[in-house]
Amino acid sequence: MERIPLLAGNWKMFTTVAEATELARAIAAGPLPDGRQVLLAPSAPALTAVGDVLSGTGIELASQNICWEEKGAFTGEISPLLLKEAGGTMAIIGHSERRQIFAEDNDLINKRLRGALGYDILPILCIGETLEEREENATMAVLEKQLRQGLDQVTITTGDQLIVAYEPVWAIGTGKTASAAQAQETHGFCRTLLADIFDKAIAQQIRILYGGSVNPANVDELMNQTDVDGALVGGAALKAESFLRIINFKTL
Ligand code: 13P
Repeated sequence: MERIPLLAGNWKMFTTVAEATELARAIAAGPLPDGRQVLLAPSAPALTAVGDVLSGTGIELASQNICWEEKGAFTGEISPLLLKEAGGTMAIIGHSERRQIFAEDNDLINKRLRGALGYDILPILCIGETLEEREENATMAVLEKQLRQGLDQVTITTGDQLIVAYEPVWAIGTGKTASAAQAQETHGFCRTLLADIFDKAIAQQIRILYGGSVNPANVDELMNQTDVDGALVGGAALKAESFLRIINFKTL
């Protein structure tokens, strides 16, 4: 099965509701090429308004995190029911900012991921090493731990039930991008691991996104790597023009 390229914008905590709806409108105005999937992840208070704008456009909506329970005493959390009510179909889980600033660990991330699957929400599991870990040659060990623990006791029957995003922490918001070769190397490693965790057929179907300073100037080369199936974009997704250029990446 073909892996449909996914171009995802993670707006983090950068927009007001008014700005988010305006940006969503401008992106929905295109041009949006066939055969590519586009996803927008506004901050939680903007989900409903952005969901309304995206309705009928074919652009998917995601939350930036997700709780495993739909209701209850979980102050500050995002209910899977509310995400679905807004029209959302996917959730970013385990973003490095959640891991580093809010101390989310692999166990919590695993709980969120299994919860999402239970609500038919497609999880985007984010993994990635810090600069220190890369310099210590610990990259693959870190990724393996994050993948194995994040996917502990996860059962999926097809590869379209999970998305992985490799986001090296040193490349996020820094303007430093992993080279295309570095991205391919880690993505290939992740796919081999996914084959071990699930099986080869499922691993071949799972989309692995690259994130970390993706921009109009580097997207073409990154997207042309065999195991790079999409991009998770922060800063460059905050302007319609640059994100549309990323969506319209060129096949080299
Ligand atoms: P930047 O594209 O701003 O580096 O952010 C990447 C990211 O964290 C997407 O989730």
